[in-house]
Order: sequence, then C-alpha cells, then structure tokens
Amino acid sequence: ELPDAVGSTLFGKQPPTLTLLAPAKINLFLRVTRKREDGFHELASLFQTVSLFDTLDFWAHDRADAPQCSMEVTPNSLGYDMIPTDESNLVMRALQLFAERTGETRRIHCRLHKAIPAQGGLGGGSCDAATALFAANRLAGYPVSQDTLIEWGAELGSDVSFFFSRGSAYCTGRGEIIEPLKQPLPPTVCYLIKPAVGCSTPAVFKALGLEPGQSLDGPDPRVLLEEFQKSVYSATFINDLEPPAFSVLPMLKNLREDLSKFGFQAVMMSGSGSTLFCIGMPLDEVIDTWKDELLAKYDVDIFEELFCRRLEDERLWYTEQ
Ligand code: C5P
Repeated sequence: ELPDAVGSTLFGKQPPTLTLLAPAKINLFLRVTRKREDGFHELASLFQTVSLFDTLDFWAHDRADAPQCSMEVTPNSLGYDMIPTDESNLVMRALQLFAERTGETRRIHCRLHKAIPAQGGLGGGSCDAATALFAANRLAGYPVSQDTLIEWGAELGSDVSFFFSRGSAYCTGRGEIIEPLKQPLPPTVCYLIKPAVGCSTPAVFKALGLEPGQSLDGPDPRVLLEEFQKSVYSATFINDLEPPAFSVLPMLKNLREDLSKFGFQAVMMSGSGSTLFCIGMPLDEVIDTWKDELLAKYDVDIFEELFCRRLEDERLWYTEQ
C-alpha cells in the first residue's frame, strides 16, 4: 500500500523531474547455441530497438512519509489491469537495487505509461528497468558508471543490459554481454504483429528440450551478423526459439504462414514470442489490404514502427526518417 500522499494525487500537478522514453526491441536473429549447467541458455542475437516506447516520468523528492521508491501506472496504459506496482515490477526492483547499492536516500516516484505489450518478446519490462536504473543514476548526479549500470541491469534480467547500448547490439552469454554495432543499422520499417495471447519466456526455453551442456547446431552467428551489417534486406533471419514457441502456442505457426503469404522480405518471431515482425514491403497486390485480411482472421495488434537509436544525449531515443 502506498501512502495516499504518493502518486498522481501529489505529483500529477508538479512536472516530473525527468521524463524518459523506453523503446521496445526486436531480435533480428536469435541463435541458441547451448544450454548451460546453470539452466540458462547461451545465446547469440542481434538486438535492435524500435520506435514503440513506454514513457517513464520520475519525481525525485524528500518526503519523509513516502517509501524510498514507489510507482504508479497510467490508467490508459496498455494492459493496465495486469501491471503490478510492487516489487514484482522490474522498475521497482531497479530503483530499490540502485538505492541499496549506492546508499542514495532521495526518494523516487515513477509514473509508467505502458505502450509496449507484455509477454511479446519485445523487452518491455527490461527496457523499463534499464530506464529506471539510468534515471536513478542521473537524478543522483551520476555516482555510478555506465558499465556498473550494465552489470546491475544483468542482475535484473538477461535483456536489461542491451538497453544501455545505442540501439543495435550483438548480444551473447545469457543475452547480457553486449557488443554495440559500430555502425547502427539504418532506419528500417518493421511491422510488429502481437497476438492477444502472450508467451511465457521460461516455458518457451523449456520447450526447446535441451539438456544441460547440450548444444544446438545452426548457422554461425558471426556470419549472420556480417550479413545484417551489409544489408538488412538480404540477410538471413533466424530465431531458434520459433519451433518451441510454436509448440507452446500453435496459432503462432499459422499466423506466421499467413504473414509470409503477403510477400514481405522477412517474417520472424521476436525473442521468445509472441510478437512476429515483418521487414520489407508486402506485395503490391495486398499493400492496401493485408492488415484488414489479417485482422479479419486473427486477434492481433499491428504496430508500424521504425528501427530507432539513441542520441549522444542518453535521454533521447529517436527515429530518423
Ligand atoms: O533473465 P530473465 O529473467 O529474462 O530470464 C527469464 C527466464 O528465461 C529464465 O529464468 C530462464 O528460464 C529463461 N532464459 C534462459 N536463457 C536465457 C535467458 C532466459 O533459459 N539466456
């Protein structure tokens, strides 16, 4: 229970101390190379941010009657009823972790406006967590280096570290070892197709059925990376989590097959699903009708986005036309 004084009743009238955008990501390719002894899977994946953003407002304050960290969710957020505001939200865990490790005593209240669907393989919770860590550090006057924030992010979740990159990064390990691309990928149109039903990440990894120590064969991820750096439009799209996700959520396979018929250059699942993304234009014959055809058959949301990247000034994510 938050004290009544905390939340929009108090802070809504005051402008936030800091407002940040938190972008979603897609995985342009995702290879699972091995299951580790600790139960996690070794990945090699090209992560790319896209122009679908959550918005986080932060208030730094000294109210003694308020908890160290608190948060609320805007009522018009996507999936509002399902979003927790306690420690099970990664934003709260990020703010608490920062306060514990730094001894920072200024209190922080966060208002989250959610636009990124949950359980979509889009890194929605992870980008919020990375943004909360960044905000706490900035509001405290940058006591902690970015490398340390990346380490703390990895403790919160495998995908969190990536969101400290500029937007295009080759990620290995659990996903937390990030190698930002020297040349970010050019702005590219992508359609995100998010079924109403989501995928549970642990369930999808489990359905892969690997034993600890067991490897999974497939194309060399370094070669895939080179292809994407030459041109997104002629690269090989692959996601080793598609077969297990299709077994967990069989409708995804049909949806993917139907999307492929529209003639995009690539149709691929992001992360552990359930979002599928399409790159390149649909065939001329269906360019005006493919969305209607899809919506007539499936309960999905369609987002038309662009790859985005982060400016020098780390507050701002933007898209280039
Ligand atoms: O690290 P994160 O909390 O995002 O992972 C959630 C779950 O997804 C893990 O508990 C694990 O079951 C699975 N996972 C995995 N290998 C990874 C990342 C996640 O098996 N590289």
